[in-house]
Amino acid sequence: MKKTTKWICALFSATALLASVGASAKDLRLGLIVPGTHAWTQAAQAMGEELKERSGGKYSVSVFPAGQLGSEARMLQQLQTGALDMAFMTTAEIANRVPDFGALFAPYLVKDVVQAGELLNGPSAQGMLTQLPAKAGVVGLGYGVAGMRLMLNAFPTESVEAVEGRKIRITPFPPVQDFYRLLGAASTPMPITDVYDALANGQVDGVDADLELIWKLRLHERAKSVLQSNHMMFPVIGLMSGRIWAQTSEQDRALIRELTRKHLNSLTAQYEQSEAQTQASIEEAGITLVRVGPEFFGDKLQQWEDIWMKKTPVLADLRKEAAALAP
Ligand code: BEZ
Repeated sequence: MKKTTKWICALFSATALLASVGASAKDLRLGLIVPGTHAWTQAAQAMGEELKERSGGKYSVSVFPAGQLGSEARMLQQLQTGALDMAFMTTAEIANRVPDFGALFAPYLVKDVVQAGELLNGPSAQGMLTQLPAKAGVVGLGYGVAGMRLMLNAFPTESVEAVEGRKIRITPFPPVQDFYRLLGAASTPMPITDVYDALANGQVDGVDADLELIWKLRLHERAKSVLQSNHMMFPVIGLMSGRIWAQTSEQDRALIRELTRKHLNSLTAQYEQSEAQTQASIEEAGITLVRVGPEFFGDKLQQWEDIWMKKTPVLADLRKEAAALAP
């Protein structure tokens, strides 16, 4: 073959390759309610970059943090219609529709983020994901962790009785609603992004949150008492629209699943490392953290357990798996 002919052939193949990638290239829109600085958003961005690279440019991911696409309830609807491709969201919205997921929020199911990451990769939690296409119209790709839950209060919280009658901001879904009802609190549903002002104007007296949210949303400027109870894990779930999934090849599904799981799983190590630093930053800002364990809640925890053992058999399985985890 002459040199010029070889050149023309090479140019033709390169153009054809680019045209084929261009024709089938897909930008996946991924929504989150957490801010751009939050670890979940960073995991979504890292997943998108790796997906672009590993798919040779066939896929890219546009990340929309801070509730730009609406609340999690709204994003779930968009996933169901195919108007949104992916979301990393709290498991709360899913637990509102599929009750078994509520068992993941059992008080003191795990002791820290490392155990949380392990349990979420175990058979019961993974098994629950298979319910999602039929019950919620979405595909559950995997889970990640957030910091353990605690309370930030604008009142001294020396005993569990101090919470009685207080307006506590919660993420509204059954396991957390039951927990605060048993504590005698007046639970106040509210997106986490509204809490700063609500603490300032007395709309709430306290908030169920985690160290990262307190620090990144600067909630410690509005309430000074951190009850570091670590009473629940708070998983994030990686979701893909069932409609978009149905139009995706087996090979592409495997890649999207693998990378979503990889980057969600990476959150465990990140939170394990950042927790001490976040705590130190909050303490340096003049806030005292009071560490308490299950004993602080007295018989309230058993009451929660009795209710939820009747609601879902998955709770007993999760407790068994959790008991077998390394301490
Ligand atoms: C919350 O509602 O408390 C929450 C929201 C996003 C991430 C973690 C927690």
